[in-house]
Amino acid sequence: MSRRFLVTGGAGYVGSHLVAALRDRGDTAVVLDNLSIGHHQAVPDDVQLIEADLGDAAAVDAVLAQGPWDAVFHFAALSQVGESMREPLRYLMENAGNGIRLVDACVRHGVGRFVLSSTAALFDATGDASIPADAPIDPQSAYGESKWIIERALHWASQVHGMRHACLRYFNAAGADPQGRLGEDHRPETHLMPLAIDAALGRRPPLTVFGSDYPTRDGTCVRDYIHVTDLAAAHLLAFDAMVEGDVYWNLGNGAGYSVMEVLLAVERVSGRPVPHRVSERRSGDAASLVASAEPALKAGWQPKYAGLDDIVRTAFLWRQAHPTGYDN
Ligand code: UFG
Repeated sequence: MSRRFLVTGGAGYVGSHLVAALRDRGDTAVVLDNLSIGHHQAVPDDVQLIEADLGDAAAVDAVLAQGPWDAVFHFAALSQVGESMREPLRYLMENAGNGIRLVDACVRHGVGRFVLSSTAALFDATGDASIPADAPIDPQSAYGESKWIIERALHWASQVHGMRHACLRYFNAAGADPQGRLGEDHRPETHLMPLAIDAALGRRPPLTVFGSDYPTRDGTCVRDYIHVTDLAAAHLLAFDAMVEGDVYWNLGNGAGYSVMEVLLAVERVSGRPVPHRVSERRSGDAASLVASAEPALKAGWQPKYAGLDDIVRTAFLWRQAHPTGYDN
């Protein structure tokens, strides 16, 4: 049976991969995006794209009134940890403020299920143990805090109004659509994998490795890279799992790779060296962030692109085919 979903931020990196997954299985997705970060080229021609800002309450109301919606998937957000530490109040107003207004509008329009794109930045990772969804919440950035505030709004919307929610805390989203339709194109780009690939391709200056004195196996930061298509699959599963109750999942492969290990993977996949130099630590970086994804795995989630080289390969192929991202 075809279902109908509203996807805020569906022109962005993870959101567009969810739209592809919905479309591939015959569901209808409508994208709401202000295109400040997302790309209209990431939205297929047969998917309705409504260009509006979440801060425009009248526009959001008008979209929600076009229901019924089987669920709302909420991706639209600012997502740079470093930027959030320079402009914390902007992150709280735009992410948390607009997020709460969206939750309220969904309740008023009778939306039954809400899936939030949340983040590992909710946790203060001090050790190298993998992090379960019930680990203590202690955001170290305004970005993490802004997502936590939306999670709390969803808690109360569920308690009082019965709107079910799934909070999906991604670790490091990476890779690109294995069919080559979509990829990662942030402007500016701050993420390790696309920057390392572009450095290997000679399109950017040598990569700067932020710190080599962390308490990790080679001194560089360890992250749990999870393929963006596997993340999209987790959203579909979460939609089903919400029938039983609210869902809180940490999403990662449960395997950590250091910055240097990612560079080596890019070298293996591209067949080229990754020019790089080591600099000081980047403010706000945790030494190690690795997910324990137990509840999602129990619900049947099986990441298909779990190997680091598989993730890098899809990212590499997309960047190779799109030297200027979605512009070509
Ligand atoms: N790194 C470098 N050089 C670079 C870029 C990154 O050494 O030029 C390092 C970082 O210091 C970090 C690792 O590579 O150790 C990964 O950095 P990313 O910027 O790719 O990703 P983050 O781990 O900082 O953040 C990502 C998302 C956030 C999310 C977080 C949760 O971008 O939105 O994961 O773990 F909150």
